[in-house]
Amino acid sequence: MITIRTAAPEELPQLRDLWRKCFGDPGAYVDIFFQKFCSIDQVLVVDDDGEVDSMAAMLPGAIQLPDGTEVPVGYVYALATNPYMQGKGHARQLLRYADDFLQKRGDKAMVLVPASPSLHRFFEAVGMDECFATRKVEILTSALSGDTGGGVMTPVSPREYNEIREGYLKNTFHMTYTDQMISFQQIGSHLAYGDLYKIEIDGVVGCAAIEYVQKRRLLTKELLIPTDKMGKAVETIAKEMEASRYHIRTPAFWDGLPGSYTQAFGMIKWYDLGLHSKYFAQQDAYLGLGFD
Ligand SMILES: CC(C)(COP(=O)(O)OP(=O)(O)OC[C@H]1O[C@@H](n2cnc3c(N)ncnc32)[C@H](O)[C@@H]1OP(=O)(O)O)[C@@H](O)C(=O)NCCC(=O)NCCS
Repeated sequence: MITIRTAAPEELPQLRDLWRKCFGDPGAYVDIFFQKFCSIDQVLVVDDDGEVDSMAAMLPGAIQLPDGTEVPVGYVYALATNPYMQGKGHARQLLRYADDFLQKRGDKAMVLVPASPSLHRFFEAVGMDECFATRKVEILTSALSGDTGGGVMTPVSPREYNEIREGYLKNTFHMTYTDQMISFQQIGSHLAYGDLYKIEIDGVVGCAAIEYVQKRRLLTKELLIPTDKMGKAVETIAKEMEASRYHIRTPAFWDGLPGSYTQAFGMIKWYDLGLHSKYFAQQDAYLGLGFD
């Protein structure tokens, strides 16, 4: 028989195992997540006769609306079903349970980033709508000019990163993060030979969260700097971090790099009817760090 409930502390090894099977992340990353960033009572599990078959973390998050109001949302992270139990409706039932769980906690919406483009349809079927987009571009080293415009890139603390980030995103519809969650991104970047940086060009200060996704592929998960400085920012990154291909993500509403295109990224299910009717058509809100 299936029960959906919050996880128990003694189930941590099972959650760790499930995470490894479904996402392949290093054990150190998963351990740090549960030790520092997510208490066990924020994890929902599907229990099938005493066996934990599915899980999802319900991280407390917030969205800042264009008028500056912040609304609490539940950020669903690490949704996973044991491979041999997939396709039996576990994730669907867990997400239905999560609707009640999050609303009772006071959240106004559920937010998540589908792990692959093909999953958007599945999440649509459970009532989620497209809301957050990202602008992407891939640049080959051979297409770079080497002109950094004197740009300087320096590692920064999560707090300083967050201050720069919020400075740029003020009065836009975007996902905000606590310094604590930004430090989770920093740990992920460190494990992938990257970091959080500030980039200074002509006295203008931007920020970038960077990691290697493969040996010679560098992903800038978010680059926030005025559009006229983006090209030089990429040159600065390339000067400091060697790769054969640079993947850059910026907000959908900032078109600063030639050849970039926008792509659906994060989805939302509003629980607040007023906010739903006001923002249901929103398609280019900014999420940036999906910890994906
Ligand atoms: C995605 C996942 C959590 C679904 O769990 P589940 O318990 O099998 O989900 P359900 O049985 O409720 O529903 C399965 C549906 O998801 C669809 N699905 C699963 N993986 C998919 C993928 N990569 N692309 C498209 N659809 C997918 C199935 O086709 C099925 O759709 P259907 O109901 O229309 O037939 C599970 O496949 C998984 O753990 N995947 C690996 C980790 C992952 O990608 N997690 C998602 C993070 S956002």
